[in-house]
Formats: sequence, structure tokens, C-alpha cells
Amino acid sequence: MMKNNITITDNHSGKSYTYDILEGTRGPSVVDLRSFFADTGMFTYDPGYTSTASCTSEITFIDGAKGELRYRGIPIEELAKEHSYLETCYLLLHGALPTPVQLEDFDLELRHRAFVPTGIEKLFFAFPDSAHPMSALSAAVTALSSFYRDHLNLNDESEYMEMAARIVAKIPTIAAFAYRHSLGIPLIQPDIDRSFTENFLYMMRAYPGGKMKLTPQGHEDIRPIEIEALDTIFTLHADHEQNASTTVVRGVASTGAHPYVAISSGISALWGRAHGGANESVIAQLSMIGSVDRVDEFIARAKDPDDDFRLMGFGHRVYKNFDPRAQILKGLQDRLKEELALDSNLMRIAQRIEEIALSDEYFVSRKLYPNIDFYSGIILTALKIPREMFTPIFVIGRSIGWITQWIEFKKDPQSKIARPRQLYTGA
Ligand code: CMC
Repeated sequence: MMKNNITITDNHSGKSYTYDILEGTRGPSVVDLRSFFADTGMFTYDPGYTSTASCTSEITFIDGAKGELRYRGIPIEELAKEHSYLETCYLLLHGALPTPVQLEDFDLELRHRAFVPTGIEKLFFAFPDSAHPMSALSAAVTALSSFYRDHLNLNDESEYMEMAARIVAKIPTIAAFAYRHSLGIPLIQPDIDRSFTENFLYMMRAYPGGKMKLTPQGHEDIRPIEIEALDTIFTLHADHEQNASTTVVRGVASTGAHPYVAISSGISALWGRAHGGANESVIAQLSMIGSVDRVDEFIARAKDPDDDFRLMGFGHRVYKNFDPRAQILKGLQDRLKEELALDSNLMRIAQRIEEIALSDEYFVSRKLYPNIDFYSGIILTALKIPREMFTPIFVIGRSIGWITQWIEFKKDPQSKIARPRQLYTGA
């Protein structure tokens, strides 16, 4: 009979130790090594946590080999096609899709909570115009903790849901402020008549006084197709289980710090090029390559072990066949090609890189495929979103995932302060 445990033998001492195997509802089983150090006096060594489950979770499931991603059991393809970002937020936070009434209430709550304290507005003026919006965004979210010091009672659902709604609603406003400040133009308050995604585009584009660009045909309002495209991008970024920034959020949560500080730490972690910062780097790289006939030169650089150049938007720790988010965005890109006048030169370069990489031994043997960041930039550019706002867009989408994971961590009786061990090699 199969035993639900595993035995590890120390070949030096000849001693054997048996550990339980835990079964989740989906995905690989997990060896429960919590008593390993106490039993053996040894640590396990796993830099980058490539084989380590750091928590149990019911939020998001990924099967990297199958290219499967689900939020609360629902495939990402279904969510992207049939549901809005706000419905997805509600699903992540509450565990089920909202009824029409619940959705309306949630939408109204977010509209009201989108406004930020005037003290936060003033903060932007401490930053130079040249500041990257990510630094101002991270700082302003930390600063929010000074305005909302309470709402930490996890026995009171209304308190943590209020806190979650504040985070999700205010981050787009703060991101738009950061952008406008970087241009030296007046900050624009949210428009309560506009829905979540439309409001963000409005805050990016509106002229002082809240009017949209004036053309001979009248004011140029935001097109439904633009709202739909950005809404899908937000949905695809909403959560991604225990990725680097979420691990940081849980780690900060484990110390008992304020949730807004935990989210701000997640924002900082996301900024890096290996993580959410890749979307900005993809467009920078495609623009640097400049034309299809230079693609081979850069592919050769990416393959050269003596060159630290990497193809941005390629590779993933978990997805080893395809990134389902990338496939959805590729489909969206093809659909929007005409309507949104996507940059055809950048698309041709991206397509050539993809063709080569999908057949080249270097990429195939390492299972390097285009990830979500490879396609998002071309669509965001067509939405008139400047490059330095790409990672803040990722932040807006991911804020719901971070806060949901924060709540789950806090409610889990097994949660402990994050405190890994080391293999000391010094003097
Ligand atoms: N271009 C060229 N070679 C690559 C690339 C790339 N983009 N990514 C990985 N490799 C090579 C790497 O050099 C190594 O080769 P070798 O075995 O010869 O040493 C091998 O593939 C494995 O790479 P790794 O760095 O050990 O893999 P990882 O799982 O630790 O890293 C990654 C995953 C996403 C950080 C990495 O693939 C990467 O840096 N990609 C580019 C940045 C990027 O697009 N990031 C966005 C990730 S998706 C959005 C998100 O969820 O954050």
C-alpha cells in the first residue's frame, strides 16, 4: 500500500527520518519538513525557493507544465473573456464572483474610496520631476499608513475589507498622480462618474479642470475598446500565487507591519527587471533593436554566456511550456491591431524574436517562452500609456492579489515570521 510519507536516509549516520506528504486539491504534493531541523540538526538548502512551498493557499493555482492559471478555481481564459477586472477583484477577495448587486456595491465603494488625502498630494512635490513613477508610488503607499493606522482587526471582516478596498481604489489615483507629477502637470482627482479602469485612463489623460483633449470634432473621450483592453490587462495581472513580490508582501506581513507598508514593499519588489519591471524593459529593448534585420544580432547576444544581455519578456520560473496570460494578450494584440493602431514595426520585431526563440535550441532546451510582459507593452503603448507607467499598471492590477494574500496570511493559524536559515561559508 502507498504510504503518505517519505523517508530520508542520512548516508553518513545511517539514520532514517520519515516525513508526511501533504496533498493539496491540485498540483504537486508537498513534503512536510517543518521538523527537519529539530530531527536532524540540518537545514534544507533551496536558494530562490525553487522547490519550497512557503504557505498553503486557496487563492491562485498555476500548473506551469500545462500553462494553466486559475483564480479561485476559475481559469484565467474564462475570467479574461467573460468577466471584468472588478468582478475578478471581488472573486479574489471574497472567493466567489459577485452577484449584480454585490458588483454594483463594490464598484460604488471603489469609486468613493479612489480619492486620496490632500497630504498624499503634497508628498509628490517632494519628488523631482525626473523621479520614476514607481518610486513615488511606493513612497505614497507607505505614506498612506500614516493616514489609516487602524483597520487591522482581522476578527472583524468589515475592517479588513475596508482596508482592502482602500488599497485597490487609491493605487490608480496615486499612480496617475506620480505620472502627472513627472510631467510637471497639475494632478487630477478621480471622476466619480467613471468606472475603475476608465477612471485611470481619465486621470492619466484629462486636462486641468477635468476636460478631455479638445479636437475639431469635440472632446476626445476614452473609447470602450481602450477600457476593455486595459481592463483585461489588469485581470491578467491580478494575482500569481507566491511570486517574488507576493512573497515579500507575506514576509512583511509576517512581522506584523501595517498592511500598506507590506503592499509598498511588494511594489518595490515588483519594480525589478526580472519581475514586473520587465514590461518596461521589453519595449525599451524592442525599440533598441529597431528593425527586424537586427534581431539575429540580439538573439546571439542573449545566447552568449559571456554577455549578460537577456531577452526581456522571455522565460518564467513556473511556466515551462507557455504563459497563458501571454497567449491571451497575443490574441488581444491581434484583435486590436487595426482598432488601436498598434505599432507595426515593434510588432514585426517582436514576432521575429518569437519565431526564432520558439525554434532555437538555446530557448527550446531551456523552456524559454514569451511571458506576459512580452506582449503587454505593445498594447499599453497603443493606449497612449508611456513606458515608465507600464510597471505601475502591473501594480494596479496586482494590488488586489497582494492584499488578498495578506489577508490569507493573517488569517492562517500556521503563519509564522519569515525567517529562513543559511549555509554559512564565511570565516
Ligand atoms: N534570455 C536569455 N536567456 C535566459 C532568459 C532570457 N530572458 N531567461 C533565462 N535564461 C537562461 C539563463 O541564462 C539560464 O541559462 P543557463 O542554464 O545556460 O545558465 C536558464 O535560461 C535558466 O534561467 P534562470 O535565470 O535560472 O531561470 P529563473 O527561473 O531563475 O528565472 C526569469 C526566471 C523570469 C527571472 C528569467 O527567465 C528572466 O530573467 N527573464 C527575463 C525577465 C522577464 O521577462 N521577467 C518577467 C517574468 S513574467 C512577469 C512576472 O510574473 O514577474
